[in-house]
Amino acid sequence: MVVDVITIFPAMVEAALSDGVVARGRERGLVDLRVRDLREFTSDRHRSVDDVPYGGGPGMVMKPEPLFRAVEAIEAERGKPAAVVLMTPQGRQFTHQEAERLSRMSPLVVICGRYEGVDERVTRTLVTDELSIGDYVLTGGELPALVVLDAAIRLVPGVVGDADSVAEDSFVRGVLDHPHYTRPAEFRGLKVPETLLSGHHAEIEKWRARERVLRTLERRPEMLDRATLTVDEQRAVDELQAGTTKTIIEGESS
Ligand code: ADE
Repeated sequence: MVVDVITIFPAMVEAALSDGVVARGRERGLVDLRVRDLREFTSDRHRSVDDVPYGGGPGMVMKPEPLFRAVEAIEAERGKPAAVVLMTPQGRQFTHQEAERLSRMSPLVVICGRYEGVDERVTRTLVTDELSIGDYVLTGGELPALVVLDAAIRLVPGVVGDADSVAEDSFVRGVLDHPHYTRPAEFRGLKVPETLLSGHHAEIEKWRARERVLRTLERRPEMLDRATLTVDEQRAVDELQAGTTKTIIEGESS
């Protein structure tokens, strides 16, 4: 995966991508990621990247020239046109499916928006995707870009050592994860569920499937409508629903 990040805070972005799983992916050559300082693409003495909005109003707007120059320089260097993602609260909501799509996009350029926004001509003609990480406004696009890149890079084959751990992500099938325990078997009077100590793999999987379904029903019931369930999970759903129906019928008759 080839990625370039355009920001006015290169040190902040670089620091977050220089440790852990992402850094290892970069070291191993699975991800060729470069952080670009937008000010390097300015041409005035003050290295300005923003200006006042036409029509007035609060805040500043990111100027088109440095952003166009940056993307054009990156594309020339990479030798290919890139998908250009702008991080903005106006964007489409980022999801696991979007992360999968981005992990297959290469070369990819991510622009971290700042100030009140970016000149609309950038959005209209340079940007191919506008993404938001949620319905809240941050001070800039750097943290959103890091969220998106972390989620996409861990899906690049080989970046996460254990492929099963990626395949079992909560949002791949639409079911939340089961609880996890490690040693000791008893901590401050709190015991690890017996089944997990039994060594009986089929029973353990049944217990975990039921816990995943219970959690999803409790916390994110809407996810279950579109979920791909294992046989054990479907059985747990059926049992839990049979239980609910029974209670409703009993309730009606009393
Ligand atoms: N910039 C500021 N807030 C943002 C958000 N929620 N998502 C993406 N970019 C942003």
